Amino acid sequence: EQIPVITIDGPGGSGKGTIARLLGERLGWHFLDSGALYRVLGLYAERSGVALDDEAGLTVLAHALPVRFEGGADGARVWLADDDVTSEIRTEYCGGLASKVAALPHVRAALLERQRAFRQAPGLIADGRDMGTVVFPGAPVKIFLTATAEERARRRHKQLNEQGVSVNLSALLREIAERDERDASRAVAPLKPADDAEIVDTTEVSIASVVERVLNIAERRL
Ligand code: C5P
Repeated sequence: EQIPVITIDGPGGSGKGTIARLLGERLGWHFLDSGALYRVLGLYAERSGVALDDEAGLTVLAHALPVRFEGGADGARVWLADDDVTSEIRTEYCGGLASKVAALPHVRAALLERQRAFRQAPGLIADGRDMGTVVFPGAPVKIFLTATAEERARRRHKQLNEQGVSVNLSALLREIAERDERDASRAVAPLKPADDAEIVDTTEVSIASVVERVLNIAERRL
């Protein structure tokens, strides 16, 4: 029997990361933050001086990506070789780098097996854009989280403020909208719900009730 996977896809700021981590804790399952892979790759490209449109060069970097995830659901740290990049990859700047390298088909293909390797017993919560459509198309439970762009920008703004990063809300809203547009319009693995995904709007819904809602859906489908 196959190891179960719950895929959580959606745009940035839809609550995916938070919800996926909480689900991982509740179920005691593994967790894949696929966006972190693309963010680390974007950073690695920049540090290596590989241009963001050099698909062949970026594909080589993607295969060799010396990324490491450490720790459990909360307080997980992300390493690029010997460098702790946990905070750095969360900037909207790194989100932009990620979204550019993520638009390249060979780069995505290079990261496919690495992502699938996270599927380990007793189960996996996979957070991203194409978890239900491309990486785990056979997953028994697929969730697509949404929220209005304004709400997502507000959440990111709050999150960044808590981390001591001050940003302008309207600039953030513009950056988020741009990144969504790039993610949704790309030719390969665009941001869109799988046909068999359950769409959950998280605008004005508490985190706790989204988690309960997803657990209910999971119970019905697993
Ligand atoms: O989820 P997060 O904001 O960390 O993702 C950063 C970027 O990485 C996204 O804007 C998207 O372009 C890309 N990404 C992707 N496929 C995934 C996860 C992230 O293309 N499965």
